[in-house]
Formats: sequence, structure tokens, C-alpha cells
Amino acid sequence: MDHLMQRMEKELARAFEASGYDSGLARVSLSNRPDLCEFQCNGAMAGAKAYRKKPLDIARDVVCELTQSHVVCQAEAVPPGFLNFNIAPEALCEYLSEMEEDDALLVRKESEPKTIIIDYGGPNVAKPLHVGHLRSAIIGESIKRICRYMGNHVIGDIHLGDWGLQMGLIITELSRRKPELCYFDRNYEGEYPVEAPFTIGELEEIYPCASARSKEDEEYRQEALEATKEMQKGRRGYLALWKAVLEISTEDLKKNYERLDVHFDLWKGESDVQKYIPAMVQDMKDKGIAFEDQGALVVDVREENDAKEVPPCILLKSDGASLYTTTDLATILERMELYHPDEILYIVDKRQDLHFVQVFRCARKAGLVDQDTRLTFLGFGTMNGKDLKPFKTRDGGVMRLENLIGEINDEMFRKIVENRSVRDKDADETARIVGLAAVKYGDLSNQAAKDYVFDPERFTSFEGNTGPYILYTIVRIKSILERYISEGGRPGEGRLLPPAKESEKELMLQISAFADAVEGAYEDRAPHRICSYIYDVSNAFNRFYHETKILGEEDKDRRNSYIRLIMLARRVLEESIYLLGFSCPDRM
Ligand code: ARG
Repeated sequence: MDHLMQRMEKELARAFEASGYDSGLARVSLSNRPDLCEFQCNGAMAGAKAYRKKPLDIARDVVCELTQSHVVCQAEAVPPGFLNFNIAPEALCEYLSEMEEDDALLVRKESEPKTIIIDYGGPNVAKPLHVGHLRSAIIGESIKRICRYMGNHVIGDIHLGDWGLQMGLIITELSRRKPELCYFDRNYEGEYPVEAPFTIGELEEIYPCASARSKEDEEYRQEALEATKEMQKGRRGYLALWKAVLEISTEDLKKNYERLDVHFDLWKGESDVQKYIPAMVQDMKDKGIAFEDQGALVVDVREENDAKEVPPCILLKSDGASLYTTTDLATILERMELYHPDEILYIVDKRQDLHFVQVFRCARKAGLVDQDTRLTFLGFGTMNGKDLKPFKTRDGGVMRLENLIGEINDEMFRKIVENRSVRDKDADETARIVGLAAVKYGDLSNQAAKDYVFDPERFTSFEGNTGPYILYTIVRIKSILERYISEGGRPGEGRLLPPAKESEKELMLQISAFADAVEGAYEDRAPHRICSYIYDVSNAFNRFYHETKILGEEDKDRRNSYIRLIMLARRVLEESIYLLGFSCPDRM
């Protein structure tokens, strides 16, 4: 099924051809003079040279062919040779009627669905979740939903950081505080307790304490490094502790992500792939791509056209320890073995760009992936405070996710209570839903790669390009429909009529861009395109709403049509916010 633009393009192609010109000239774009017309085509200018004619004459010829058109109207040739026109109200109405009928709202799903693994979230076990992980979760969840909506088989993997130095730090700190625990007794042969020797609250205190100490106390640091190594080599007591940390942390993480409406299909982590490393490394040696350099084992991943020097990929340090890179390579290997994805997409801080360049090149060189397997890195920018520096708490620490969400929810609660007549018992839950929308929309409405300023005041505003504004619009539509029903109306009766006035047509036009927005967001992996779509739809709806007596419309057919139109507006908005990863309350 063609989208609206393509329908117009076909119509113009026909007109170009009928007047003796190349149909390829018929490229339609949105008008850059919306005060004059809705769409334009610059084909007459482009073709002038080839046909040795004045562009205006070509445009006039084409306009003649368009006078009978059912698809475009008010076509006009404008000096020096623009072709301006509008969409015919009937054609627009027909398109929207087809949207109403279609479950997918005319989105063209992927013709050959792919298996896509999305690596996002990436929290580090035992360390508190902080805002740096927030972006990955928000963007990743949205892209996962978009890819799935397009018909692909999508697997979201949280890829826990659960095998690093933080474990050694916790072991070291705990061994000093409670040396009597059986985990530290090398001669202990019994079962380890089912119950962990700490609560999540204690764990959250232990890690920062150990981390701070290791920065001042070199001996302590060495001990932690040693403990990490011993754990990685399989010391029983340390592994049992590691398991306890993992369990407690995971439980807590699950709660946190649940609250963000972020859901992973896989809860795998760095520890899961350690078993692949020895054979993988051996294979790279056998293939002759891994070689020793100053004691370390490395793979040269430079390429001819590199503008900047890409350092070699280090697989093993001189003491034989593996690194972040090694783990990521082994993860690729496991993913290929278990899921055979067509693509692995990483949604990680853009400062890790070089790391992924190295990993991807090394993976290809070592043949870990097929030739046509796509490895994609989507790097996101930093979330800054109003001072344009990475977001911090008031006392300068890294802001914890819970506190940040809490702050937004409080602000939201205040606004809701002051703004509306919602009964108090709902206000809490409403503030939570709207607060989440505020945070997510505030993030997703920017291009992912750009840094952005986290501004609670702006994000929670009911006006402007914000999540609450979008939800407010949906709630407004819901309440009109509710009132309509309570007055005995039956939504969905009658049929959609061609627009009779400007604001109605504008709303229809904005709604009609749904498929373009979703397909574009999918192709470019760019949720912000859906944000700008729903912002346009919301603006058009609100203008229409202020200019129109929807329920008070006397003409029954027209009223039915209005109701259908706002139902469709609600549908595209709700579908869109689902793709962005948030939902809408019934009242605000
Ligand atoms: N845990 C890492 C961090 O906090 C992010 C992991 C990203 N994913 C990956 N496959 N490397 O920086």
C-alpha cells in the first residue's frame, strides 16, 4: 500500500509523462511555504536543461494534466518553475479510512523479518544504577519496540557487568569486616548458606566504601585485584559470594527496570561467556591474527583508510587476564551460536565508540560473525545538568536513578494536584505514569547521539514539546469520547468525511504521516522521529479542538466523522507512545 506522498508522486509522474516529460522528475516534498500550499515538486526546474525549456513552461504543462486529478488539487505553476499543490480532501479522507481499517495503520512491515539482538541497559551488578544507564534503557527499550513492531524477531539482552573488579572490591571489603564468614575459609568444604551475608542496602554501602578506599590505599587495591583474579579462576568461596551478589543485585535491578517499564528477554552477563574465552583466543592464535606484543596478546585491527590510529585489540593482558574487549568478543560468539542473529545492535554511551570499532573489526577478522551479520553501534550522548556538565546531585555525586525518578515524580505530583481535580488517591499513580513519560520523552525527543540537558521543570511542563503535553492531548480526546458515550453516542458510527475546514484537514494530514514516521524511525533507529510526529499531531489536534464544537456539531454525519477522526488521532498517539515506551493515564 502506498503512503500518501507516494500516491501523490504517482499522480505527478503520470502528469509529467502525459505532457512528454520524464516521470522521474515527479519528486514530492512537503511545502517549505506552508502558507501557500501543502506540497511541492521541483521537477520542472530539474528538467529544464534536458528539455531546453523554461521551468515555468514545464510546470504549466504538468499543471494542465493535473486539473482532473482526484489525488491532488489546487495545482499551480509558480515562477521560476515551482509546482505547488494540495492533497485532494477526498484522497486524504480515503487514506485515513484505509488507516482505520488496517491493524498496522498502513505501516509496511519488514518483508524479510530479521533476528535482532539489542544489547542495552548494561548496568553493573553491585554498583547502583545511575543516570548513565538511564539513557541506554530508555533508548534501547524504544528501539526494541519499534523493531518488533516492524515484524522482526527481537531479543533484548541486558548484558550485566557482573565479572569485573567491583566483585573483588566487595570480597575484599567483606573479608575485612567479617573475616569469620565461611566464604573466606580456604579449607571450608561444606555448602554455602542459601541466605546472602548482606542485604541490598548493605551491598549498596559496601561497594562505594570499598571503591573509595581502593583509590587511597594501594595495598587494598592490590588485594581487590587479587581477589578478582582468584574469583575468575574459580575459588569456591569467592564464587559463592559472587553468586549471592548477583542474585541480590538482579532482584533489585528487576524492580528498578520494571518501574521504568523496561523489559529484557535475556538477563545474561559478562560472566556467562567467560567459558568461551580460552578456545576463542586459541582459535585467533591458530588463525595467526592474535600475536604477542610486550607480553600481551593482541589483534591488529587497523585499516587502510583510518583517519585516526586505531589501537590494537588487547585480548589478554600480560598476566593472562581477559578484558572488557575479550568479553564482548566472546559474547558475540555466544550470541551467534545460540541465536544466530542477523544483527546485533549495541546501545551504549558514545564515548565507547572506539571500543566497539575494535570489537567489531576483530570479530570480523576472526570470523566470529557471518559476512552479512550486521554489527551496529548506536552511541548516545551525555545527559547534562543545567550547567551543561554531566548530571550530578547537588552535593556533586553521581545522581542515582531512583532519586532522579523520585524528583520528577514529586514535581509531577505537585503540578497535577495544582492543575486538576483528580481525586487524591489517583494522583500518586498518575504522577508516576506522567513522570515516566516526562523523563522518557525528554530523552527520546533529542537525537540519541546528541548530549542534552536534563531539565525537570521543562520536562514536566504541560505545555510545549513535552511528554505531559502529549499525554494531556490524549487524555483530552479520551474525555471527549467518554462524554460522547455518556450522552448516548456510539463512537465508530458513520464514516469519515473529507475535511470541510482548514484545521480539520491539517489534523488529518498530520495523522496520515504515521507510517512514514514509524518506518523512518525504524530505518534510522531514531525514536525522535516518532516524538516529532506526535508533537505535530497533538498541535494539530489542539488547534482543531479549539476551533470546533465536536460534540455540539448539529450535522450528525459530520459529528460522526469528527468522532472517528479523534478516535484515529488517539490511536496513532497511543500506538506511538507505546513505541516510545510509556503509557497514558485516564485522567490527569
Ligand atoms: N556495563 C557497561 C558500562 O557500564 C556497559 C555494557 C555495554 N554493553 C556491552 N556489550 N559492552 O559501561
